[in-house]
Amino acid sequence: MQINTHPRPTIFVIFGAAGDLAWRKLIPALYNLFIDGWLPEAFHVFGVGRTKMDLTAFRDHQREGVNRFSRRGKVDEQLWEKFAAHLAYDAGDLGTDEVYSEVKQKLLEMEEKWRARPNRAFYLALPPRMIEPIVKRLADAGLNQDRERDRIVVEKPFGRDFDSARELNCLLTGIFQESQIFRIDHYLGKETVQNILAFRFANTLFEPIWNRRYIDHIQITVAEQDGVGHRGGYYDHAGALRDMIQNHLMQILCLIAMEAPISFDFDDVRNKKVDVLHAIRAIPHEQVHHYAARGQYGAGWIEGEHVEGYRTELQVDPESSTETYAAVKLFVDNWRWQGVPFYLRTGKRLPARISEVSIQFRPVPHQTFPAAALMDWRPNRLLIAIQPEEGILLRFEVKHPGQTMRLSPVMMQFYYREAFKSAPPEAYETLLLDVIRGDTTLFMRADQTEAGWSVLTPILDVWETARSADFPNYQAGSWGPEEADILIARDGHNWILPTSLQCSEDMAVCRVVQEPKQ
Ligand code: BG6
Repeated sequence: MQINTHPRPTIFVIFGAAGDLAWRKLIPALYNLFIDGWLPEAFHVFGVGRTKMDLTAFRDHQREGVNRFSRRGKVDEQLWEKFAAHLAYDAGDLGTDEVYSEVKQKLLEMEEKWRARPNRAFYLALPPRMIEPIVKRLADAGLNQDRERDRIVVEKPFGRDFDSARELNCLLTGIFQESQIFRIDHYLGKETVQNILAFRFANTLFEPIWNRRYIDHIQITVAEQDGVGHRGGYYDHAGALRDMIQNHLMQILCLIAMEAPISFDFDDVRNKKVDVLHAIRAIPHEQVHHYAARGQYGAGWIEGEHVEGYRTELQVDPESSTETYAAVKLFVDNWRWQGVPFYLRTGKRLPARISEVSIQFRPVPHQTFPAAALMDWRPNRLLIAIQPEEGILLRFEVKHPGQTMRLSPVMMQFYYREAFKSAPPEAYETLLLDVIRGDTTLFMRADQTEAGWSVLTPILDVWETARSADFPNYQAGSWGPEEADILIARDGHNWILPTSLQCSEDMAVCRVVQEPKQ
């Protein structure tokens, strides 16, 4: 598929357009792309959903969504009016053929009006059970035929285990070609996640030390402060391992661990990522407890507010044994990473919303300095802050000023907002633009989704057969269950407190600002 940098006319058909995803993410992202001039002039969003509402109500509802969730805050009324003219909506039962003939008719009318064959992106903003009936009907209506311009966008969760993911892949690839399928993992659209590639492969500095010789271990943390909210119905059948580790955290792991691709062509990048997943050491079923820990939050306090426990949340089974916290230790068995543990953890109702990657370097091979100089000494650490702060921080040692030799750790910091003075685009903006351009680099390929599930299968099996006896086992507002601390402590490590929460009293900070243009 050709990547269009100047996108051709495009129509987004959003199935589930009256739902939450369109409201919070898709329409705000399209609106921002529109303001930033990324959308082609011939552009249209055709929403389809079960909820009955007329066009005015649909547009008003979407404007409210943009007001609440856009990174730019409230809409500019004039720009909104221009953008809203591109929005249309029809209510219908997605399980009937009429909807698809109607969609087809609308698409043909637009083509006629534009005198051009547009890209057509069918976005499934719906629960996974709707994928099969919709894609089959799209095929029946012949809406999958143009291999260059017809595209299907599928949200996670992509299956709930290896077998269901494979089944889903068979279904999709039987109807669309792989290059037409955009499996979304919104973490891949985050600026800082993409920046891992730039940082690793546009600099020579770190590559020589990016391996088992210099790196002791790696921690990937995605901590959420929110609870399960109104998504209990979905979440209680998923859990943290499926909801976060299988996709978002494993994608980050791939970017950290992958070899340099030959080019940034989509398959070159994705091949290298799949290599990582294939190199992950299989976890024996009987050792799952050594490699994985799970938790569920009970009631507790977050920022001075009392919050309820998971089991009393909306649509959650009062005796649920679903994990809301998961920690996993993985090894990548190849030359670069042999023996280096990758610790992944994620949880809801933790003290803060913070995502970070910590690359912990080994101590120096020989300590030249006397013991008295080493009181504050720490090995080097590189931090990739993904959210809410977006940046890169490097900890290294310097001499503390004074007449005695004393070493002190300092932090060199780069923050996007300081260096570039502007907020990076939202993940969905990047991803929707890539759908329009036909660039699948930041989307998951079929084999990637399956390889991801296969890594986690032993944990899923064991956790499903053995209910956890001690749930809830961490208080809302704490850093998770003791089991997770034990998992990492067994290797002589501890979970690194996210940087923005660390007291930097005794840590001097050097700010890195963008270099002035020559
Ligand atoms: C989603 C998960 O994929 O990612 C949610 O289903 C989670 O449970 C969300 O809250 C986190 O995304 P972000 O971008 O807020 O870190």
